[in-house]
Amino acid sequence: MSETKLEAWLDETRTFVPSAAFVAQANADASIYPEAAADPVAWWGRQARERLTWDVVPSQNLEWNSPQATWFADGTLNASVNCVDRHVAGGLGSRVAFHWVGDIDGEAVSITYEDLLARVSRAANALVELGVVAGDRVAIYMPMIPEAVVAMLACARLGAAHSVVFGGFAAEALADRIVDADCHFVITADGGFRRGVATPLKPAVDEALLSCPNVRKVLVVRRTGEKVSWDPQRDVWWHDIVERQSSTHQPESFPAEQVLYVMYTSGTTARPKGILHTTGGYLTQAATTHYYVFDVKPDRDVCWTSADIGWVTGHSYIVYGPLTNGVTQILFEGTPDSGGRDRWWRIIEQYGVTILYTAPTAIRTLMKWGEDIPANFDLSSLRLLGSVGEPINPEAWMWYREHVGGNACPVVDTWWQTETGGIMITPLPGVTATKPGAAMRPFPGISIDVVDGDGISVGNGEGGYLTVTAPWPGMTRGIYGDPERFAETYWTRFPGSYFAGDGAKRDLDGDLWLLGRVDDVMNISGHRLSTTEVEHALVGHPAVAEAAVVGASDETTGQAIVAFVTLKLSHLGDEADQAALVHELRAHVASVISPIARPRQIILTPELPKTRSGKIMRRLLRDVAEQRALGDVTTLTDPTVVAMIDRLMAAHSGDDA
Ligand code: WTA
Repeated sequence: MSETKLEAWLDETRTFVPSAAFVAQANADASIYPEAAADPVAWWGRQARERLTWDVVPSQNLEWNSPQATWFADGTLNASVNCVDRHVAGGLGSRVAFHWVGDIDGEAVSITYEDLLARVSRAANALVELGVVAGDRVAIYMPMIPEAVVAMLACARLGAAHSVVFGGFAAEALADRIVDADCHFVITADGGFRRGVATPLKPAVDEALLSCPNVRKVLVVRRTGEKVSWDPQRDVWWHDIVERQSSTHQPESFPAEQVLYVMYTSGTTARPKGILHTTGGYLTQAATTHYYVFDVKPDRDVCWTSADIGWVTGHSYIVYGPLTNGVTQILFEGTPDSGGRDRWWRIIEQYGVTILYTAPTAIRTLMKWGEDIPANFDLSSLRLLGSVGEPINPEAWMWYREHVGGNACPVVDTWWQTETGGIMITPLPGVTATKPGAAMRPFPGISIDVVDGDGISVGNGEGGYLTVTAPWPGMTRGIYGDPERFAETYWTRFPGSYFAGDGAKRDLDGDLWLLGRVDDVMNISGHRLSTTEVEHALVGHPAVAEAAVVGASDETTGQAIVAFVTLKLSHLGDEADQAALVHELRAHVASVISPIARPRQIILTPELPKTRSGKIMRRLLRDVAEQRALGDVTTLTDPTVVAMIDRLMAAHSGDDA
């Protein structure tokens, strides 16, 4: 985002003070900040002991050998017991854990904690029969159906790490992730439904597994009923093996630092990173942040996090945080317009949703469809709104507050990352006065700084790089199979601090505003993708010589992918050929990575702007893509290249959107 835009926001900033009614019932009051700050490690230790059920209560809190942390290391527990069994044992078995709502209108099922325990136990028994043992990695590639959550919890119950791969990823991306984590098992479905249409998943698994020789078994849920190809040695139907298992399973206890899951995310290189999370610290942060940030009342609230379980938001705020806290949730398979553009509002009205957590890109889409649609529904059950995934523009924030929250719900803009495991910067409802577009303050027990290029703290009214200056319980324990890359990526830029890759600004009151990524990571509709990952896919096409990819700002998706491509001599054809080729290249990227990586625009150009040392000047290309005045071009080998690209871009704008 540009500086001038931010200044404009700051000028028009309004502050919303929490209502007396909200303050009176809030889980947090202002004393939480000084309490946590007095001794953050001890504060987290208290959260861990209060919020989780331990088999062996830890005597330790933090061990810190930068950048390696362990939390609560001598404690033992079982994540699935914390999410399910203990609620049933505590007499809450008949509370609904999930109201699952299908993509297809009218398809729904409510699952109590008791049902969930039986389902997780059966699935765990089935995984044991298939040969899964503690320490294994299990890939999960599924639509948003109850079995996806059950599969995650069944793995956790056995001490096997799950690696959930978003169902929108293509076969090659799936294969890369399976191989990198050396998964020996895959749990999938024949397919899922999207806007009423059956979309297959199993064929992508079959294709991926051609290059994954170590996968022994594939467990397949029948969801769509479409015909799938079958390898009888390898493939097992979920209904054949899971349904006949006992509905009880004796859980084992695991050390706090047992790996709970691997989650792949894009960094600045072509290869995605397997971010590792362990059990005790991660669950502590997921549960504590869920409790305070969303002000949850487990006996009353109906929470709805609209993310897919294929992303970290789904892990922390559909599965581990809310289930640890024993709340009731919505699990929705569809998109905001599955069965009509009013679908979300119908769900909120029907189930009395109280807490909604979604992404700015979804809010902007709903906004585009118009406020008349939500106005037709009774949304008065809502009492809190959250946002995550990208900077939220004040217009979207205000629309959310007014037209969804009826001007009565606090809005919490929450900043965090796959690597942080849980929310790090956020207002606390009932405590913090909020500003549209600002994430405001570090969560209690979290230490944040905004620093300049030399690592010096900036003052109020200034911007810089966002860093975390002390370890926190949910922090990633590293990158799967690559400890050096972990230290190098996050801990060397500002020695002793974690560098998030984001820019941030402190306003004149010292409140935090996120400014987007400062590296080559793009954020498309809240999905992280690296520019190199997309470039890599493009140069994998036989026609492409070189590619440079930038994230250009986009009204709805936050950023959109714009690619500048030079062709091999053999592929330089006439205009018509080129239009067809652009089309083909966009489809190629979608098929190699995912439809979310499909470039909005591809500009074919005879040359790319390079510095004398041969580096592609992405900054200039971003200026071109965002139609901004061009920056300094004096370091280029040939300054006329950018002007030429600019002309090409203008001539082709809108061509292939
Ligand atoms: C961005 C998603 C501004 C940021 C939980 C971060 C945000 C990346 C916000 C992590 C926010 C997330 N305001 N930017 N409230 N939340 N981001 O790993 O650039 O998919 O580094 O985790 O999303 O994306 P990830």
